[in-house]
Amino acid sequence: MANQLWIKKPIEKLLLESSGEGNQLKRSLSSASLVALGIGAIIGAGLFSLTGIAAAEHSGPAVTISFILAAVGCGFAGLCYAEFASMIPIAGSAYTYSYATMGEFVAWIIGWDLVLEYALGAATVSVSWSRYLLEFLSKFGIHLPAQLVCSPFEVVKLSDGTIIDNGIVNLPAILVVCLLSLLLMRGTQGSAFLNNFLVVIKVAVVLIFISLGWSHINPENFVPYIPENTGKYENFGWSGIATGAAVVFFAFIGFDAVSTAAQEAKNPQKGMPIGILGSLIVCTILYVLFAHVMTGLVKYTEFANDAKPAATAFAKTGYDGLQTALIIAILAGYTSVMLVMLLGQSRVFYSMSKDGLLPKFFSQVHPKFSTPYKTNIFFMLFVSLFSGLVPVSDLGHMVSIGTLFAFCLVCVGVWMLRVKRPELHRSFRTPLVPFVPIMGIVVCVYLMYSLPVESWYRLGIWLAIGLAVYFTYGKKHSKIGHE
Ligand code: ALA
Repeated sequence: MANQLWIKKPIEKLLLESSGEGNQLKRSLSSASLVALGIGAIIGAGLFSLTGIAAAEHSGPAVTISFILAAVGCGFAGLCYAEFASMIPIAGSAYTYSYATMGEFVAWIIGWDLVLEYALGAATVSVSWSRYLLEFLSKFGIHLPAQLVCSPFEVVKLSDGTIIDNGIVNLPAILVVCLLSLLLMRGTQGSAFLNNFLVVIKVAVVLIFISLGWSHINPENFVPYIPENTGKYENFGWSGIATGAAVVFFAFIGFDAVSTAAQEAKNPQKGMPIGILGSLIVCTILYVLFAHVMTGLVKYTEFANDAKPAATAFAKTGYDGLQTALIIAILAGYTSVMLVMLLGQSRVFYSMSKDGLLPKFFSQVHPKFSTPYKTNIFFMLFVSLFSGLVPVSDLGHMVSIGTLFAFCLVCVGVWMLRVKRPELHRSFRTPLVPFVPIMGIVVCVYLMYSLPVESWYRLGIWLAIGLAVYFTYGKKHSKIGHE
């Protein structure tokens, strides 16, 4: 039975399932929609929320360097993702790739770990969304009861300077998670259309922020550019920049969704690296410029406990009318990130359930909408729990460490498969193997190492729960295991 841990799902079976009767999900997303889904997932709370937190607590104005470091790690991992995705272009993301290539046990770990990326990623964005919503409502003199808009474990600074440290639950964050989950239950066609629209708005916001903010930069805010380390690894100096990189790494999450479009690329050998690296380079340039303007408008220390730093910074430009529009656009842009995350999450659990590793409940499809609606309901509740009760930075760290871990496994997997199964057809081949996977692992592990130690404990606990579920349920019910 120990062999079952390494049993692989035949690739032919996977391809059959994806195209044949085994597939009950509607194949409604065009390749352009998938690419837009990726971009929709990339720009979000990482930029509009965590940039301020990373600057205030870890990197100072050098958060720009943190963005570049994080982008390097993503670049290496992205190339590995592209090879996997071009081999097995099926719902379920890294989970599915690893089931076919590295065996059931590794697949389970990745699938379980992806909950941190997708479900907690959606929760992180919802908390930031709630902060921008409060800012928006305050423009109209509407102030929701403080206890009902903050989690019990966070200290929140509102724009009028009020500090809230007695929150009970973050209701707006829960609300947006529920609304988007309901939308997904109705099907992905409508959500893909909405997503394309939101992507355009989001990119426009970033460009407007940079171009209007640039002339209002106060160079004094850049002194010192790399604040001296305080004696704690994660607070400033070069080690602080590394921690900042691990925090803003969140801002790049989502490009892996682009890789799922690999099979649809006209010339994957050329198109995938251009697509993945191109989107990473564009985002990195936008992010660095955005962070530069943000920390130039406001002293980095002022971003402490501020989950809506873009609004705080933009206020310095004096374009008051535009600020409200900017906040509306950010709120709208966040919804596309949450949609992709919630969609990705439900598809991973759908695939795991189809394979028998999770109860059938997770793969039951709605008779009318053809969506795995029970999974959507489950994650609506699960994500709401975190949205309502956990502060944004704790959530962000969890997502970063979970995703970095998944990226490491993907890098290992690509390298391993080149050695073990060189004959498999790959429409895109990662260049310079094993150099690229090794560098991907080195940078990702370094970023993981730079995260606060609590994130490691939490990752350990989450994986331990996962192992318990696998050995008590998944392993016994695995379809491939029984075959
Ligand atoms: N990259 C996504 C964001 O920043 C997850 O919100």
